[in-house]
Amino acid sequence: MGLNTLPRTLTLQDGRTAELQLLEVSDCLSLVEFYRTLPEQDRQVLKDDVTTKEWADRFLRKVATKEVICLVAKDGDKVVGEGSLYRSMHGWTKHVGEIRLTTARSHRRQGLGLAMASTLVKIATDLGIEKIIVSMVENQLGTRRTFEKLGFQKEAVLPRHVKDISGIKRDLIIMANDVSQIWAAMESLVQDYSPHAGE
Ligand SMILES: CC(C)(COP(=O)(O)OP(=O)(O)OC[C@H]1O[C@@H](n2cnc3c(N)ncnc32)[C@H](O)[C@@H]1OP(=O)(O)O)[C@@H](O)C(=O)NCCC(=O)NCCS
Repeated sequence: MGLNTLPRTLTLQDGRTAELQLLEVSDCLSLVEFYRTLPEQDRQVLKDDVTTKEWADRFLRKVATKEVICLVAKDGDKVVGEGSLYRSMHGWTKHVGEIRLTTARSHRRQGLGLAMASTLVKIATDLGIEKIIVSMVENQLGTRRTFEKLGFQKEAVLPRHVKDISGIKRDLIIMANDVSQIWAAMESLVQDYSPHAGE
């Protein structure tokens, strides 16, 4: 499930396939296009403005230094999902990683998010990361469900920390997973869910 299983073909629950691979420089334009075509409602819950060339350049620099491990799911040349593991290379949170994940609306509820998230968790543990966090707005049910399935639990709430698209302030929830403890349990859980590799 980790880096040594990439690239691999995922079969989604509706039978479509997607190639899961590490981001390559040549994917950059498709990645920006993927974010540009996301509805504003989805983009608004992401931490960065991911639609600009400047963001892409900064992001690629972080990928080059391995501060970010970025996976993309592709349908042909088109990016249909992006999931990244962010980590501090120095300092007192060196053992902590953060996952950020987005899938295309056309590919949601097919197991893609779960497959990408579980791969990133495995990569994190292989890199020696001991704790993983995910930040989400209180009403992001899909994100919450996806990470709960992988053993993440609510760890902190920052009240009225985020303004949504209508200007309403919402709580920011931080979920965490002490992966040093529960990877083994998670692996058996993940096997119960499609998509699976190698078809
Ligand atoms: C969160 C997100 C990545 C999930 O992707 P996905 O490809 O739909 O995920 P999966 O199909 O693997 O779903 C995983 C689980 O979550 C559940 N789920 C997903 N979206 C859901 C929703 N809107 N409501 C309720 N449950 C949902 C799925 O049903 C599945 O559970 P199941 O196996 O019991 O059916 C996707 O909804 C997304 O990109 N959201 C917008 C961006 C975002 O909020 N990113 C998070 C920032 S870290």
